[in-house]
Order: sequence, then C-alpha cells, then structure tokens
Amino acid sequence: MSEGFTIAIDGPAAAGKGTVSKAVAAHFGFAHLDTGLLYRAVGAKVLAGIDATDAARGLVAEDLEDDSLRTPAVAQAASKAAVIADVRAALLDFQRSFAARSGGAVLDGRDIGTVICPEAPVKLFITASAEVRAKRRFAELAGRGIEDSFEAVLADVKARDARDMERVEAPLKPAADAVVIDTSDLTIEQAVAAAVEVVLKASQR
Ligand code: CDP
Repeated sequence: MSEGFTIAIDGPAAAGKGTVSKAVAAHFGFAHLDTGLLYRAVGAKVLAGIDATDAARGLVAEDLEDDSLRTPAVAQAASKAAVIADVRAALLDFQRSFAARSGGAVLDGRDIGTVICPEAPVKLFITASAEVRAKRRFAELAGRGIEDSFEAVLADVKARDARDMERVEAPLKPAADAVVIDTSDLTIEQAVAAAVEVVLKASQR
C-alpha cells in the first residue's frame, strides 16, 4: 500500500501529532514531514526581522534543523505568520511533493486533510483537552531545559488554537472524513495503536 499512500494527521497544538505521526511512519516504513516545522522556521525568521512571505519563499532545508524552533516564542510567531495566505501558498508545493513521494508519507499539521492532501486515503484528527495538551508541552519543554510556567504554556496553547481555528486561510478543523482520536485519556502506545488500526482498515478498503 506504500505507493504514493498519504496519511494526513491534523490537530491542535501539542495534541501528540508529532509522536503519533513518527510512530505511524516508522510502523509502515513511510517518510514523515512535520509541517509545523516549516511554519516555525518562518516564525523564527520573522523574529529575526525578515518579512514572513520572503522567509517562506526562501526557506531551505537547513532552516528546519535549528533547535530554537521548538520554543514557545517561535511557536507564537509561527502561528501569526501562518494566517498569511502568501506564506501558506509558498509552502504548498513542497508539502504536496513530499506527500506524493513513492514510498508513502505521513504529514502532520493543521490543514493536511483539508487543504494540502484532501485526497489522502487516511485522515486523522488527533486532539486532547487544552489542559492535558498544556501539561504534556510543559513536561516536554522542562525536559529540554526551557523553564516556563504551566499557566504560560496553557495560555500559549489556547492562543494558538484560537488563531489557528479562526483564521480565514486553511483554518484548523477536522476534514469531513477524518477519524478523530482524543488522546486525553490514552497512553502514547494506545494512541499509536488506535492510529495504526485506522490506517490498516483504510488500506483494506
Ligand atoms: O507542535 P505544535 O502542535 O505545538 O505546533 P506545530 O505543529 O509545530 O505548529 C506551529 C504553528 O504552525 C501552529 O500553531 C500553526 O499556526 C502553524 N501551522 C499551520 O498553520 N499549518 C500547518 N500545517 C502546520 C502548522
């Protein structure tokens, strides 16, 4: 089932999309693209004084390797840049080419099932309560030595959710045919198993 098979995974901030996407990609031997990193790379450039659209148009692979991309400040800048239609348009071809690669691909983000790959045979929407998501992000940041209060992390998650859902261009929402997985009460293993099961079912259709 790998030939051009695309798995689209969307969901709000810190819902566990990255973890589930990586595990699903490894399970099926597919390539994985964290599309949030593209927007984070643009956000980092905006913080460095570069125009958002110029940054998106000039993005190169090395821009995605910067450790600072995982900070809350860059996440906020990313979600502000992500409302700009020209920014999203500049990143479209790269994402679609990645999705069409022959070995199969998992893409995770906000608009993969709705805009980037509306024809994907598998669409997942991974979500969890804002409190659970903030707890996970808080622990992840602390593990990387980034000290932020829980309240600040929760506020970041909620602010980005609101901006991502309310924007005109490619707002965050489940595709009509997406399978929603709420990971609030699931372990990582359970969430991954649920996602793998959805993919297997879809591939048998
Ligand atoms: O890791 P987390 O879920 O917190 O965020 P991310 O996936 O790295 O995305 C950072 C920001 O980029 C999001 O808040 C969105 O505003 C934006 N984004 C987007 O608009 N479309 C995507 N396909 C991926 C990310």
